[in-house]
Amino acid sequence: MAFVAVEGIDGSGKSTVIQLLAKLLPKVYVTKEPSDGPVGRLIKEWALKGGSVDPHVDALLFAADRIEHYKREVEPKIREGYLVISERYVESSIAYQGAAGVPIDFIKYINKLVPRPDLTVILDVDPEVAEARIRRRGHVEKYEYVQFLRRVREIYLTRAAEEGHPVVDASRSPEEVAADVAEIIHRSVIEPRGRQSLG
Ligand SMILES: Nc1ncnc2c1ncn2[C@@H]1O[C@H](COP(=O)(O)OP(=O)(O)OP(=O)(O)O)[C@@H](O)[C@H]1O
Ligand SMILES: [Mg+2]
Repeated sequence: MAFVAVEGIDGSGKSTVIQLLAKLLPKVYVTKEPSDGPVGRLIKEWALKGGSVDPHVDALLFAADRIEHYKREVEPKIREGYLVISERYVESSIAYQGAAGVPIDFIKYINKLVPRPDLTVILDVDPEVAEARIRRRGHVEKYEYVQFLRRVREIYLTRAAEEGHPVVDASRSPEEVAADVAEIIHRSVIEPRGRQSLG
């Protein structure tokens, strides 16, 4: 039916909000990156565990996983009529690998093989708030990582302004954030399609 990407820094509440969206909207299929496919597993078990020493390698792996994930899982589910919601997509690569020093034009180029989502929503929150949430989960991020997330957030917001992606204030309760995102999805994806099929 359609394809929506939910983006935002670590701890912005993507997983939490997507779980709520699946209850608020009809026929939702939830998925995430890195995927459960072979390249996604390599990213989770190796690159994200400190194995990769070059952000260009990460950018290439994430792009490869994205292509594989899109063809194997996302596209078939869209065809089956689902509203596919992916936690992270191209904007994550631009924001994270961009913040790590990879030229954005290079990241865009290697991601040309996957289509743009029908909608990309950015969950925006201060990295300190996000870090406090993650800490409650028992995991403490290094100071440098919080500084890194500041750069990631800046890129997300700059790109959102350029590309017209809606930015949602994710410092509020999960229910408030999810209600806003559901409304945006309704207005910009579900309703226009309903009109098409009627007309
Ligand atoms: N709006 C919120 N207010 C307070 N706490 C929240 C909110 N949203 C999520 N949390 C809590 O913050 C933590 C991180 O949330 P979540 O896992 O949904 O974030 P995420 O963006 O998916 O993170 P990651 O990038 O690591 O996947 C969880 O413990 C969750 O319960
Ligand atoms: Mg998550």
